[in-house]
Amino acid sequence: MKSKILKMLRDADEFISGQSICDALNVSRTAVWKYINQLKTEGYEIEAVSNKGYHIVQYPDIVTKEEIESQLVLKESETENIIKKVVFYDEVDSTNNVAKQAAEDGEESGTLFVTEHQTAGRGRRGKTWISPAGSEIFMTLLLRPEINPAAAPMLTIIAAMAVAYALNDIVKYISNPIVKNISKSGIPVECFIKWPNDIVMGNHKICGILTEMSAEPDWTNYVVIGIGINVNTEQFDDEVNGIATSIYRQTGVKVKRSTIIVHFIKHFSQMYTKFIETCDLSAFIEDYNTLLINCGRQVQIHENNCSYTALAQGIDKFGQLIVEKEDGQKTEIMAGEVSVRGLYGYV
Ligand code: BTN
Repeated sequence: MKSKILKMLRDADEFISGQSICDALNVSRTAVWKYINQLKTEGYEIEAVSNKGYHIVQYPDIVTKEEIESQLVLKESETENIIKKVVFYDEVDSTNNVAKQAAEDGEESGTLFVTEHQTAGRGRRGKTWISPAGSEIFMTLLLRPEINPAAAPMLTIIAAMAVAYALNDIVKYISNPIVKNISKSGIPVECFIKWPNDIVMGNHKICGILTEMSAEPDWTNYVVIGIGINVNTEQFDDEVNGIATSIYRQTGVKVKRSTIIVHFIKHFSQMYTKFIETCDLSAFIEDYNTLLINCGRQVQIHENNCSYTALAQGIDKFGQLIVEKEDGQKTEIMAGEVSVRGLYGYV
């Protein structure tokens, strides 16, 4: 109900009367008043004028269920929106842990778990994902796709593209004159993907994705796609300071995190629906390679105990990176088995 009231307030260009909310949603005036007071305590600045009604003057930068759902159309008939439910926590250990436990308990596909703060955020290769409250996005999407488990890692590639598109949408909206597609450090402000699924902006990492799954040999039980995005972070811990960046660090502008989540959901839903038709990335190769920062660049590939230099040429329909070695031999490399870096640093 609170999401619906917030959506009515959000969609109204001007004041909306309490009575019209009651009539549309079939609730009492007292209930509307109670929800509006809750929204005010969460940081929404709501003007209330007698004989006119309510009007939101200022939105807080929060990532609650209502803030996200009120910007989505959650209709059963809406095939393009694969998010059926948003679950918000003030604090959890890791949204991936919460999503996996919920999946084991039977939670439905299309549930998005979001939190303000993680006490034990996890990155790939057993690393910690530092997760302070108030400025970043920590979310995990639970899916139960009817696909062969071998195809599940490709969902990470789709998620990376959806994040890159969402961030690029937002950066375009930033009208601050200092942006103009050039960052403070002179680098174009646009997001790219470092293979397979790190999102980079200004040659620094802005988002990481951790996908985990439960599967039988020929059947996927569930997949959880955990996404961490640095949005309004001003200062990073020393250990990641040289690699990490945020939208704020790149543009000097703070943005509402919920807007990024909503744009991500829109892009991911469209691509997921298309992916499920073929269960491979054939429809996305060209677009992915356009976003791929490594494309056409020399990269350093670390595989077991050996490392070599090769020219990255783009992905194939399984998401493998096609590289040309120095002897001219072409080979495909699989995510998870190798790590790829630029010759002179992170990209
Ligand atoms: C990486 O190492 O690049 C992956 C980082 C993934 C971080 C996200 S934040 C939300 C979700 N919960 C976690 O514990 N990890 C992922």
